[in-house]
Amino acid sequence: MLFSPITLRGLTLKNRAVVAPMCQYSAQHGMAKDWHFVHLGRFALGGFSLVIVEATAVTPEGRISYADLGLWDDTQIVPLKRIADFLRANGAAAGIQLAHAGRKAASPVPWRGKFSETDEEKKALAFESWTPVAPSAVPQTASSPTPIELDTAGMKRIRDGWVSATNRSDAAGFDMIELHSAHGYLLNQFLSPVANKRTDAYGGSLENRMRFPLEVARAVREAWPKHKPAFARISVTDWIEGGVTIEDSIVYANELKALGYDLIHCTSSGFDGAKIPVAPLYQVPLAEAVRKGADVPTAAVGLITKAHEAEQILASGQADIIALARQALDDPNWPLHALRELESGDVYSAWPQQAGYAVRNKDRVLNPRL
Ligand SMILES: Cc1cc2nc3c(=O)[nH]c(=O)nc-3n(C[C@H](O)[C@H](O)[C@H](O)COP(=O)(O)O)c2cc1C
Repeated sequence: MLFSPITLRGLTLKNRAVVAPMCQYSAQHGMAKDWHFVHLGRFALGGFSLVIVEATAVTPEGRISYADLGLWDDTQIVPLKRIADFLRANGAAAGIQLAHAGRKAASPVPWRGKFSETDEEKKALAFESWTPVAPSAVPQTASSPTPIELDTAGMKRIRDGWVSATNRSDAAGFDMIELHSAHGYLLNQFLSPVANKRTDAYGGSLENRMRFPLEVARAVREAWPKHKPAFARISVTDWIEGGVTIEDSIVYANELKALGYDLIHCTSSGFDGAKIPVAPLYQVPLAEAVRKGADVPTAAVGLITKAHEAEQILASGQADIIALARQALDDPNWPLHALRELESGDVYSAWPQQAGYAVRNKDRVLNPRL
C-alpha cells in the first residue's frame, strides 16, 4: 500500500509517503531562502510523493514568528515557485500550507525559547515584533501577550488575505493547498471553546465556532483551481476537558468535505494545559475516527517512523496517506529506505538516477545475494 499511487482530483501521488509541513524559522520578511529550497528539495530526491511547505502566513501579523514564510505579497511568489518547480521536476508534488497564527503569533523562534536576539542579530535577521489578534482577548498562556479581539472588518481582512495567498500559491505552481486549522492557531482558536469566548455569531455553539473557519475554507476552495486538491489540517482533539472532541471534529470534517476538501490531515492539540498521550502512532486512531466518521480520506501523522507501521496503517484502512515530520528530518531518504525494506526487485530505479546505480553497486558489494 505504501508504494501504491493515490489520485485526489487531478493530482496523482506516486506513493503514500508525504512530508508534513515544518516551520524552519529561517525566512526574512516572509521570503523563502536557499535554506528552504534545499530543506524541501531533498525530500523530493528522497522519494516522498508530496512535500508540503511549512505554515505560510496569509498576512504579516499571522506569522508565528518574524522568521516565518509568507504569501501576502507578490514578491514572495518567486522563491516559492523555484521550490515548487524543483519538487515537481524531481518526482514530488508540491503542496503548501496557508496559515494564520492568531494569538500564537509574534512568538520567539523555538530554539531560542525567548527573545534573546541582540541588536546586531535583530538587524541581520530582520526581527519584527507586534501584538497578535485572536477571536477573543485571551492569551495563550499566563505569560503570553493579550491579543486584540478581532472585529468583523479584521476577520474579513484575514479572509481576503487567505484568498490572495491562495491565488499566489497557484501562481507559484503548487499542486495542492492545505488549510491550517490545527495546533491552536487562528482557525483552531475560533473552533475551540478554550480560546473562543465570543458572544456574537462566531462564538458559543459548535455551529457558531465553525462559522469563521468554514467561511475561510469556502473562500479558499473557491479561489483554488477545481482540478487541484485541497487538504485541511485539523486538531481532531484538544486533549482538554471542555475543548474540541473527536465528535466535534467529525462534524467539522463533514462540513469541510461538503465544501470540496479532499483530505483531512489529522493532528491534535495546540492549547495550553492539554494532556497528550504521546507515544508511537498516538494520533493514528484520530485519522481512523475521522476517516470512518466523515467518510473522507485522511492523513495520519505523529511519531510514525517505521515502514511496516506505515504499511499497516494503510492496509488496515486507518488512513489514506502517511505524513512524516521529524522522521523525515532524520532520514530524508525514508521512502527509498522503506521501499528497500518492504519490496524486492529493482528498488533502485526509485532513486534519482545520479545516485541509484551507485547505491545499488554499494549494496551488491556488501550483499552479493542482491
Ligand atoms: C520543526 C517542526 C516544525 C513544524 N511546523 C509545522 C507547521 O508549519 N505546520 C503544521 O501544521 N505542523 C508543523 N509541525 C508539526 C508536524 O507537521 C507534525 O504534525 C508533528 O511533528 C508530528 O509528526 P512527527 O512525529 O512525524 O514529527 C512541525 C513540527 C516540527 C518538528
